[in-house]
Amino acid sequence: MTVETERLLLRRPVEADRNRFVELFTDDEFMVYGARLNIDSANARFDHMLDMSELVAYAKQPIVERASGTIVGYTGVGVISFDGAEYLEWGWRLVPAARGKGLATEAVTALLALADRTDDGKMLCFIEPENAPSRSVADKVGFHWWKHAEWNGDADEPTDVLVRPIGAGGPLLRAPSWQSTGNPSPSVISRT
Ligand SMILES: CC(C)(COP(=O)(O)OP(=O)(O)OC[C@H]1O[C@@H](n2cnc3c(N)ncnc32)[C@H](O)[C@@H]1OP(=O)(O)O)[C@@H](O)C(=O)NCCC(=O)NCCS
Repeated sequence: MTVETERLLLRRPVEADRNRFVELFTDDEFMVYGARLNIDSANARFDHMLDMSELVAYAKQPIVERASGTIVGYTGVGVISFDGAEYLEWGWRLVPAARGKGLATEAVTALLALADRTDDGKMLCFIEPENAPSRSVADKVGFHWWKHAEWNGDADEPTDVLVRPIGAGGPLLRAPSWQSTGNPSPSVISRT
């Protein structure tokens, strides 16, 4: 399924996107407020994106700038371990040159509309308290603050937990079963 907006195209990730995402996942500026990945963990993360895209229509996917055809970021859901279970968690990330143009809000709004048509439940989103640009996106697309938490139970790594109803609403949306992919369940997918 492809989602088009005025300036962007969102589509399932494909193997041909691997080099671009490994480049992005190993770039400190792209990954600010996120995990530091090396080549191996970046490849594993891209594998996870491919697997998730087979199971969830609004899984993390490339944000392509229509004018240039360039992948300028991603948005969609990944898996997060939270309170002893695995849940869907929404994330977004843009290359620095694409920030400050309203593109994150445009992409997230469009993909959330697909999620709203697809599922009913409640979506999680984790944002560091000082990450104002990300919190601004969350506010604009309908997430609201739920509670504080700590990454890996570490008081030095606080995070805000936000939620948004999806479709008709309901309980937190759980991660899908991994059995159908033939791949092992990812151990812990932490920061987006
Ligand atoms: C978080 C992140 C994706 C936000 O991207 P962004 O481009 O700043 O987000 P937005 O889409 O909200 O656009 C921001 C600004 O662009 C401006 N803008 C410029 N042209 C615009 C247009 N045509 N339409 C709408 N807004 C426009 C707006 O003023 C908007 O600011 P506002 O919040 O005051 O409305 C980006 O900062 C990022 O990638 N950060 C690093 C990774 C990260 O932190 N990810 C989240 C982890 S939780």
